[in-house]
Amino acid sequence: MAEEAILGFLESHAEIADSGEFAAQHGIDHNEVVNVIKSLHGFRYIDAQDIKRETWVLTEEGKTYAEAGSPEVQLFLAVPPEGISREELQKRLDPSVFKIGTAQAGKNKWVEMGKQISRKVQHVDDKVKDMLTRIKDGQCIDADNIKALKARKLITPQTWKGYSVKRGPNYAPKRKKAATDLTRENIQRGDWRELEFKEYNFSAKGPPAEGGHIHPLLKVRQQLKNIFLYMGFEEMPTNNFVESSFWNFDALFQPQQHPARDSHDTFFLKVPSTTRELPEDYVERVKRVHESGGYQSRGYGYEWKRDEANKNLLRTHTTAVSTRMLYLLAQKKPFEPKKYFSIDRVFRNEAVDRTHLAEFHQIEGLVCDRGLTLGDLIGVLHDFFSRIGMSKLRFKPAYNPYTEPSMEIFSYHEGLGKWVEIGNSGMFRPEMLLPMGLPEDVRVIAWGLSLERPTMILYGIDNIRDLFGHKVDLGLIKKNPICRLGIN
Ligand code: PHE
Repeated sequence: MAEEAILGFLESHAEIADSGEFAAQHGIDHNEVVNVIKSLHGFRYIDAQDIKRETWVLTEEGKTYAEAGSPEVQLFLAVPPEGISREELQKRLDPSVFKIGTAQAGKNKWVEMGKQISRKVQHVDDKVKDMLTRIKDGQCIDADNIKALKARKLITPQTWKGYSVKRGPNYAPKRKKAATDLTRENIQRGDWRELEFKEYNFSAKGPPAEGGHIHPLLKVRQQLKNIFLYMGFEEMPTNNFVESSFWNFDALFQPQQHPARDSHDTFFLKVPSTTRELPEDYVERVKRVHESGGYQSRGYGYEWKRDEANKNLLRTHTTAVSTRMLYLLAQKKPFEPKKYFSIDRVFRNEAVDRTHLAEFHQIEGLVCDRGLTLGDLIGVLHDFFSRIGMSKLRFKPAYNPYTEPSMEIFSYHEGLGKWVEIGNSGMFRPEMLLPMGLPEDVRVIAWGLSLERPTMILYGIDNIRDLFGHKVDLGLIKKNPICRLGIN
């Protein structure tokens, strides 16, 4: 609307002398006129010259008087023809209106000021309010009145900015829309000759490229995989989230009454609720070691139940995978030493909070060779953890049904200034290894930790639900950098 008005006006007039007056005459907001002038000037449809004027605007106080009337008039009107006591009048008026009103009305000789206040004139005009209203409407008032209002801090100067406008070199009564593309139709019709093309912007960024983004957990997982591979470890197949209780617990010499085997801690499957196949002779040896021991062990001395071992579950640790691999390794003759690792998902029936989820990832490493000792385990742990930036380690004796000795691993966290638990480790028990058929002098050292813990530390995330699960912010996944392990 403003654009048509300006270009149309210039068709029959040499200039618009004042954009402010132009806006007022055409009933268009001046800001809108200014924006259009700037744009038309940019495309050289018009030439615009700045004009500045000193004008006056109302202060906050001035605005209230323009609405409610000046304090002196408010005061005058509050004085009844028979007069009023000072106290009574004060009660009826706002304190500042009373104070300013009495001073001004006294000065104007409108009221008699004593103990009793009474009118000296019949009628007063609110000149102050009238002048403030005129200023508000952009009209002019004379210099003396300006001075008076300024002295009472009811108005303040402001620079008004506008333009005077003439036709520019590209003037046309209507703006031509620059074409962005040369089309087949333009060529067929021949109108390409007259078309004005929009200039090509070589520095435009273009839309962001769509593509896949790697989740922080997967970035950290890849780095950990590389570390294991550098250290000569082979990756174990972890493609079975569903596992039998046998491989998850029994084969690990975990008794059938162990609290972890309760449905409060473990997700059991309804369909299929049991496993179809287990290696029978090995099952027999596992049963025997639970019930009565052997291999210099006394066992647990309870009646081991096959039904319990058959129950399907979502694996609670990747040690189930390690167990399967060690069993396979035990079947190979002659024995071959191995270094294995895995990083994959495990499931626990736990209450979800800022550090726990019902599913998370475990990192697990193991070395299987003749004559390994606890010293080898400590050495491997130092080697492994120093590669992920944790070189200060401490160990605390712990308990796992399947390892002896067992050690919790702590690392000194420079940022937190304290020792934090980072993992669990141990040497697999003979009650676990010998029934598999591994040679007697073969020892297995192993450790496990979560993938979420180091990832949260690296990415500075303190609520696990921001990292993993349905509440994750996709923006975070798209924008997160690669955080290098070991550099922190
Ligand atoms: N399976 C243990 C856990 O779930 C970790 C572990 C792995 C402990 C290997 C000892 C040896 O916490």
